[in-house]
Amino acid sequence: MNKAIYPGSFDPITNGHIDILKRSLNVFDEVIILIADNPNKSSKFTVEERVLMATEAIKELGLKNVSVDTTRGLVVEYAKSHDAKCMIRGLRAVSDFEYEFQLTAANYYIDNSIDIVFFMSHTETNFISSSAIHELYLSKVDISKLVPNSVLKVYQKKYR
Ligand code: COA
Repeated sequence: MNKAIYPGSFDPITNGHIDILKRSLNVFDEVIILIADNPNKSSKFTVEERVLMATEAIKELGLKNVSVDTTRGLVVEYAKSHDAKCMIRGLRAVSDFEYEFQLTAANYYIDNSIDIVFFMSHTETNFISSSAIHELYLSKVDISKLVPNSVLKVYQKKYR
């Protein structure tokens, strides 16, 4: 079983993340969307809301072999304890590279037995970020083409 984790804040999950997830499912047998409950980062959505949005998105898209979990610890440690050999990350632009390069170095320092595999975003989604989605929604711009339906529903409930 070729298992990988896809860690991130997913605050909220977007069609950009879904693009990366779908590509990774062509390579891995099983992918765990790992929502980092990082107390050092301020989030717009609670971890429960982020889990709900991701879980519902998988359901609505009919994606198989994907599950959602959370961690408060190191993502590499989670990978090891769940028998995942790889970690998935997405690259949207050159500007992502430096951050990912450092994150990779830190993760390899913790444990270099977990490989980090990058997927390039599709051109249609490479401008999307979670904070851009948030700003667009609050500015009353239609975000329905940028996020799964589950995210739109939570936004409509939380920010009426
Ligand atoms: N589509 C859309 N958005 C994307 C994207 C894509 N393909 N790829 C990245 N992004 C965006 C996210 O939306 C997010 O946008 P925002 O800043 O506007 O919110 C941004 O890129 C970064 O998000 P993410 O990929 O979730 O990274 P992160 O830095 O928030 O979290 C973790 C990365 C989970 C690995 C890490 O920070 C963490 O919290 N780990 C837990 C502790 C740990 O293991 N540390 C070890 C390393 S030091």
